[in-house]
Amino acid sequence: MKITVPILALALLPFAALAADVPAVDVAVASEDGVRSYNAEEVPTYNIAADGTLDWPTFSGYRRYHAECHVCHGPDGEGSSYAPALKNSVLRMDYYDFVGVVASGRQKVDAADNSVMPSFGTNPNVMCYLDDIYTYLRARGTDAVGRGRPAKRADKSEAFAEAEAACMGG
Ligand code: HEC
Repeated sequence: MKITVPILALALLPFAALAADVPAVDVAVASEDGVRSYNAEEVPTYNIAADGTLDWPTFSGYRRYHAECHVCHGPDGEGSSYAPALKNSVLRMDYYDFVGVVASGRQKVDAADNSVMPSFGTNPNVMCYLDDIYTYLRARGTDAVGRGRPAKRADKSEAFAEAEAACMGG
């Protein structure tokens, strides 16, 4: 029986290595401003109630992602042969880098590969909802939200509707 322990430890090694590949991200809600929720660094984060109800902004992010990003990045942030899985990108990239890439776009320098991330900086349908897209992707990356349409979601708050209208210029 003595031999059991080292064998078990060896068998568990690949899992430990896999777990180490997923960076720890702070997704805990530290504050709310009536429109969205934020972590301790004041970076937008998702907010899931004890009964599983998803906050409206993150649900909005699900909708906006599938309207604006999924054609290249694949459904549910899973990635495609053309563009990377954003559910993983948001665990590696910080919020400000994420916003920067979406606003300015990016082109691979590799000459053999002409894949382009367009710039969305002047597109209100993206920029007014970028925090929502970000929290949705983080919810996907941490598996807090599964694939497909989130089943239970909060209603849009009045404060969200006002902020949305102000951003969209309405
Ligand atoms: C026309 C196709 C296309 C659309 C639409 C698109 N992207 Fe991209 N995106 C790309 C490609 C291609 C790359 C990889 C570019 C590179 O490697 O430099 C990329 C890269 C990115 C990156 C960097 C990821 C990383 O891991 O470095 C982010 C963030 C990103 N896109 C966000 C978005 C968001 C958010 C949307 C929707 C608002 C979106 N993209 C819509 C094609 C697209």
